[in-house]
Amino acid sequence: METLLEVRNITKKFSGVTALNSVNLRLGRGKVTALIGENGAGKSTLLKIMSGIYNDHEGEIFFKDQAIQFSRPKDAQDLGISIIHQELNLIPYLTVAQNVFLGRELVDRFGFLDQDKMNQKTRELLHKLKLEVAPGALVGSLKVGQQQIVEIAKALLTESEVLFMDEPTSAIGESEVDVLFQIINQLKEEGKSIVYISHKLDELFALADDFVVLRDGRVVGKGIMNQISRDELISMMAGREIQVIKKSEKKSSDKRMLRIQNLWLKHPKNPQRPILKDISFDLAEGEVLGIYGLMGAGRTELCESLFGLHHRILTGTITLDNKETSFKSPIEAIQHGLAFVPEDRKKDGIVAGMSVGKNISLTVLEKVIKRGLLSKKLESKLYRKHVESLNIKVNDEKQFIRNLSGGNQQKVVLAKWIERNPKVLLLDEPTRGIDVNAKNEIYELISKLATSGISVLVVSSEIPEILAISDRIIVLSEGQITAEFGIEEATENKIMNACIPESMNK
Ligand SMILES: Nc1ncnc2c1ncn2[C@@H]1O[C@H](COP(=O)(O)OP(=O)(O)OP(=O)(O)O)[C@@H](O)[C@H]1O
Ligand SMILES: [Mg+2]
Repeated sequence: METLLEVRNITKKFSGVTALNSVNLRLGRGKVTALIGENGAGKSTLLKIMSGIYNDHEGEIFFKDQAIQFSRPKDAQDLGISIIHQELNLIPYLTVAQNVFLGRELVDRFGFLDQDKMNQKTRELLHKLKLEVAPGALVGSLKVGQQQIVEIAKALLTESEVLFMDEPTSAIGESEVDVLFQIINQLKEEGKSIVYISHKLDELFALADDFVVLRDGRVVGKGIMNQISRDELISMMAGREIQVIKKSEKKSSDKRMLRIQNLWLKHPKNPQRPILKDISFDLAEGEVLGIYGLMGAGRTELCESLFGLHHRILTGTITLDNKETSFKSPIEAIQHGLAFVPEDRKKDGIVAGMSVGKNISLTVLEKVIKRGLLSKKLESKLYRKHVESLNIKVNDEKQFIRNLSGGNQQKVVLAKWIERNPKVLLLDEPTRGIDVNAKNEIYELISKLATSGISVLVVSSEIPEILAISDRIIVLSEGQITAEFGIEEATENKIMNACIPESMNK
């Protein structure tokens, strides 16, 4: 096997905390390597070192058997190493094409920016990735899933030999995943080397040739993908035997907590194409209602509408706890007992420049204020409670949330909303980026919250997840409810069939 990139004895510390410990890794030409590990295991950190983002590490890097040192990301790029980041790194107020070409803009023979050519090239890339957005659209106006595809386009623009993909599918739907896989297989045939991080093990089995498992910054296993079982991998990641928890039978209450009637959400620009069409459903106290749909089906917009984000273009009635409501802002929604954990945690879920402790206490300040003053002691108590119950991997209370691993950031977001003890909890892709074991912990938590009387509405693009947590499932397609199932009758097939848009059946 010809090795393209190799690292030896990589150790990386963050202010005293060891994130990687003597890691060795070899990436062969034409191979897809799965990099696996629980949240906080060190996966993203390793990719960042191999792409020149962190250079204050110990150990050596070899590119085609030559020892190299990166002093900045550009050094790696120049060698043909590119990375698709876990956290989207696009600039919202630039267009899609400007983002794709950022830092390597094309100029014409007079030295002026060649906007037409960049737009054209971007259009081709997006077409290849089957994303129907204009190169001139502002990135900030795109949904997370679309942004993720733009990230992918950006990485494909350079003819890289080594490509790192850090959870590239965490926000995209199944059909986009298929497109991406086709592209990865093509890159593989061309002799590129790919490292692929994902918590979705099925993807890894479908895609990877080799695997490497990290646990607490160390390599604890490596080998050939089709020679290991799913269970073996999971135990290797966790370093312990894992028990899968079965959902306990429970009776929902008769009390109707939320009632949605004839909800229509207009398209902000095109009145002919409403985003939500005549949505009606009920949610009982303590019930978990799963909402499934493909990307663009209107799932996120439904949550946002309930949360007071679109009141100007929304019609229909929303009744919460027997009171008809029409929230004009999220603040109103929160005051009336709604909580919303959004899909895009970086944009809406966290205050990146604040500590983990502050992020948790932020939405419940009244609980940590004593006689008009912020009580550090109460704040710490709150912090400890959630870090323990959600098993959040964090160095200390003062660590900035942006320095937590992706999955652990997600847990903090959950913690801060749970603490508000809402009547209705809206969760949009609650386990995005969360490792398999921690997922089970979160499922258990959701079930516990429901048992305590909180009504939960969960949007997820993973059918197994929807099946694992819901009491009842609604399928959305092109803004309409196309099916509803009780959990006893729901199957993967039935759900899939219900979510295929009519326009694709023709
Ligand atoms: N900039 C930073 N400052 C301090 N600690 C950090 C920083 N970046 C990462 N860490 C710590 O290093 C460890 C590894 O983090 P990393 O992001 O590599 O995990 P990961 O395996 O990618 O996890 P996930 O699956 O959640 O994305 C974690 O304990 C994290 O808290
Ligand atoms: Mg990561």
